[in-house]
Amino acid sequence: MNYKSIVATKTGGPEVLQIVEKELREPGAGEARIKVLAASVCRPDITARRGEALYSGTPLGQKTPFVPGYSVIGTVDAIGARVSDVTVGDRVGVLAVAGGYAEYLYWRGDRLIPVPATLDPAQAVPLILNYIVAYQTLHRSARIQAGETVLIIGASGGIGTALLQLGQLAGLKMYGVASKSKHHILTGYGATPIDYRTQDFVEVIRQAEPDGLDVVLDGMMRLDYIRGSLSLLRHGGRLVSFGEPAGLAALWRILMTFVAVNVLPNGKSFKLYGTSSYFLGNKQPYLEDWATLFRLLEEGKIKPVIEAKFPLLEAAQANALLESGTVTGNVVLLAPEFFRAIGGEYVT
Ligand SMILES: NC(=O)c1ccc[n+]([C@@H]2O[C@H](COP(=O)([O-])OP(=O)(O)OC[C@H]3O[C@@H](n4cnc5c(N)ncnc54)[C@H](OP(=O)(O)O)[C@@H]3O)[C@@H](O)[C@H]2O)c1
Repeated sequence: MNYKSIVATKTGGPEVLQIVEKELREPGAGEARIKVLAASVCRPDITARRGEALYSGTPLGQKTPFVPGYSVIGTVDAIGARVSDVTVGDRVGVLAVAGGYAEYLYWRGDRLIPVPATLDPAQAVPLILNYIVAYQTLHRSARIQAGETVLIIGASGGIGTALLQLGQLAGLKMYGVASKSKHHILTGYGATPIDYRTQDFVEVIRQAEPDGLDVVLDGMMRLDYIRGSLSLLRHGGRLVSFGEPAGLAALWRILMTFVAVNVLPNGKSFKLYGTSSYFLGNKQPYLEDWATLFRLLEEGKIKPVIEAKFPLLEAAQANALLESGTVTGNVVLLAPEFFRAIGGEYVT
């Protein structure tokens, strides 16, 4: 039996994404075969495909051809020898980095995320990457407290809307930087919007919060935003940057600021957040936080903003939509049975 994947055949725009068929094989030792039910279209999928990711062109970057797709919800379809954490039929999530735009993917059996089967895969899949970043930057990096005043840079995106929802739930006073056309989503979560095209966010916040901010959550990772944010923090204030820097030179300049802020006695802290510790370190905090997020979704306390749902094999169109800059929240790819369930026509 064959299965289809969406392969980035070379670096470039969405047109380099092509459907490729491969034979379905049995999983190897320690491996599980996952039938993909939903995959998010994530910003890192796009930067990797365009060759603009931090590590593009280095041995750590994705090499074409590759299957993009950072975050997945699926069902365990087969397991290889020595897989004991999951069994066939289990609903799981995969923080895959790459490989999610496919009907099936193979993944380490000990790196699968338990997901309640009652959850809609379209709603659950943004929790695998965008919500874990939002939750951990708020609760583990910034250690926010109810009543604190927080600025979110990139508030209308997949992670930004997750920060707004989780921030409202945590009782924060929020400001958000976003395009004017998307301000309604920020006000809907009780945040005060700032238009980065026509307003200077430093001036706006300085006027509104003369005592300074407790926390800035920065999804842009640009030195101008970082310097402006640091200038707005009160004594004891925390800046957490989780965005992808524009390249190694930009990262180097940011790292110099990072060292200076954290070494010099100025009463402020600057943290950089990345999910790489999931692969390199202790997975337990991630599993705890995903479990919390799935519970919040089940209880209706969070509801991912989903701008559009596409059939899995229309990943190129879905990528083009996210790249257009018009999206608020998330874009999701769905397997045929879930796409048809929402009235869509799935052409194979
Ligand atoms: N650290 C990690 O582990 C991790 C994981 C996933 C993603 N990321 C990174 O986190 C960042 C955000 O990801 P995402 O998934 O939320 O992306 P997204 O859904 O594509 O959203 C991007 C956001 O950037 C905003 N934006 C664009 N230009 C801007 C500017 N000049 N000033 C302020 N905002 C601007 C957009 O705002 P408007 O549309 O309102 O203009 C949009 O809200 C990306 O850099 C991504 O690569 C990091």
